[in-house]
Amino acid sequence: MKTNGNTIFITGGTSGIGRGIAEAFHRLGNQVIISGRRKALLDEVTTANPGMRAVELDIQDPQQIKAVAAQLVRDFPMLNVLFNNAGIMPFDDAAGEIDDETAVSTVATNLLGPVRMTSALLPHLKQQKDAVVIHNSSVLAFVPLASTAVYSATKAAIHSYALSQRFMLKGSGVRVVEIAPPWVDTDLVYKSGDSRAMPLSDFIAATMAGLAEGKDEVYVEGIQALRDNPGSGEHAFFTAFNQSLKENPIPVGH
Ligand SMILES: NC(=O)c1ccc[n+]([C@@H]2O[C@H](COP(=O)([O-])OP(=O)(O)OC[C@H]3O[C@@H](n4cnc5c(N)ncnc54)[C@H](OP(=O)(O)O)[C@@H]3O)[C@@H](O)[C@H]2O)c1
Repeated sequence: MKTNGNTIFITGGTSGIGRGIAEAFHRLGNQVIISGRRKALLDEVTTANPGMRAVELDIQDPQQIKAVAAQLVRDFPMLNVLFNNAGIMPFDDAAGEIDDETAVSTVATNLLGPVRMTSALLPHLKQQKDAVVIHNSSVLAFVPLASTAVYSATKAAIHSYALSQRFMLKGSGVRVVEIAPPWVDTDLVYKSGDSRAMPLSDFIAATMAGLAEGKDEVYVEGIQALRDNPGSGEHAFFTAFNQSLKENPIPVGH
């Protein structure tokens, strides 16, 4: 995709990957609009990046999605890029009782959020030049982390949805891009500085390069084995991956 001259709406721009990508595009001369629930952080990010704009949005709320989409089309008629990034990653126990409220909010945020946001903006995006929808899945779309079973399932679903959407939008002028991050050191779980997590700035630099190259799927070097996991050999790979993380768990804070 082109990396300047776009008008880009980013969900979950208050922290982590969303903020990093927002600031990278802002520096390259794009009109960036971020969203999220935490108003104080929206203000902090836009103050730190003069010209960047923000809108409050709880991506779990379909009415808010419709209202924000209408507002964006009205206020930013050149809007041509949607980056579906907002997400939550609660740990769960698929061997026991899964808290229903948490499961519902995980699906509403990670799966229904991007589906609804994209549906609301596609009629507008189809009228734009250089239109792109970017979905943020995860390497866990390809190799589930067993201790976040519902999260991993939502990410596999987003990968599947992106494939279908790319096919259906062929010839429409709207490109569909998926980014599948590895473990990046953000507050998604707990920013711990764990050496297995990729530093955020390295991840943003690699992802911006992949987006500029025009790939349909953007993932960083070193995760090819994870990306290639699905297939008849996936059970052994999946088991080894989960066993290693069971022995050396991801820090979850206090
Ligand atoms: N970090 C990783 O290791 C990793 C790996 C693979 C994929 N990812 C994906 O990357 C995306 C961003 O995660 P991150 O690592 O940058 O974590 P993060 O720093 O916790 O950012 C999550 C973002 O999502 C927003 N969000 C969460 N629930 C929301 C809601 N109901 N409505 C609107 N916004 C909401 C948050 O904003 P508010 O709280 O202000 O609403 C925040 O801006 C997620 O989709 C995640 O699954 C991350």
